Amino acid sequence: MVIKVSNLRKEFNGTMALDGISFQVKAGEVFGLLGPNGAGKTTTVKIMSTMLLPDEGTVEIGGYDVVKDPKKVRELVDIITARDKFYRRLTAYQNISFFSKLYQVDDWKEKMENFGQRLGLEKEDLEKRLGDYSTGMRQKLNLVRNLIRDTPILFLDEPTLGLDPVSSRKFSNLLKEIMEKEEKTVIFTSHNMYEVEELCERIAILNEGRITSVGEPKALKKRIFPMRLIEFTTTGKDGFELSDEAVDHIESEGNRFRVYLKDGTRIHELIEKIMKTVRVSDLSVKEPTLEEAFIRHTEEEESKSKGGNTWM
Ligand SMILES: Nc1ncnc2c1ncn2[C@@H]1O[C@H](COP(=O)(O)OP(=O)(O)OP(=O)(O)O)[C@@H](O)[C@H]1O
Ligand SMILES: [Mg+2]
Repeated sequence: MVIKVSNLRKEFNGTMALDGISFQVKAGEVFGLLGPNGAGKTTTVKIMSTMLLPDEGTVEIGGYDVVKDPKKVRELVDIITARDKFYRRLTAYQNISFFSKLYQVDDWKEKMENFGQRLGLEKEDLEKRLGDYSTGMRQKLNLVRNLIRDTPILFLDEPTLGLDPVSSRKFSNLLKEIMEKEEKTVIFTSHNMYEVEELCERIAILNEGRITSVGEPKALKKRIFPMRLIEFTTTGKDGFELSDEAVDHIESEGNRFRVYLKDGTRIHELIEKIMKTVRVSDLSVKEPTLEEAFIRHTEEEESKSKGGNTWM
């Protein structure tokens, strides 16, 4: 395990930001931290990257303790957040040249132009001062800076925040490509579920400073939201009813029907049953997305922590 987080706690003036979280990440793994605003994701990443001290608990990065050996940890990790450390009055070339000297990278210019181009930063953009950059451009240059430095461990805290959809897709594609080629260990936070599902091998869901679920995105979806959905349109004007214990509920809009199943176990049988009952023009089976699963999970956790009104 290249990252070991044990029983981490952090309080800010009475707010329990982290209430004892533990997880481990293997070398080369892309691990996602998911959770609603204020769940504790950034606090976790800050502690892991030695920017913040924990109140209790330990974090080991590549065998080094973040509190006892922060220097060693800093050699192994790099962090990308929505904030950057660039000098506004210098051009992108000058900024990267400066950081590359710091990291002792010689062939930075070629790398910069290459990574830049793949993210949509052309040479003329690289000539501009950082003060004239848009948010998205700064984010891209931040990733470029990191890729040039090339640390084995990378923390990305909402790296695509502020990127337009096309840039954000380019960003995830480049990341994916790099992760497939290299043994980088990545901790990733994002509110974009598409990205999370696309990039992360495992995810932990945080809520109010605690981990409420950990697993592969697929398994997590199944566990949190086992419901499946059969959708179809009937050709006739007749209504549609189906009584079966596997059916959770049915929604309809004109002659378009949605049959929500409690799980996916008897799906074929139910499709046959539907086809025997009515004439359908099109029929498809849908799975919940990670987003739906996440929303449901978070809502459930919220109602639990409010004392749970489930008995009402
Ligand atoms: N420097 C600080 N001072 C006081 N409270 C803080 C500080 N940093 C974080 N907190 C509190 O700790 C909790 C966790 O915040 P954190 O930034 O880790 O959440 P997050 O999961 O990253 O949320 P988001 O999705 O909005 O980025 C919140 O209640 C926040 O108000
Ligand atoms: Mg955050």
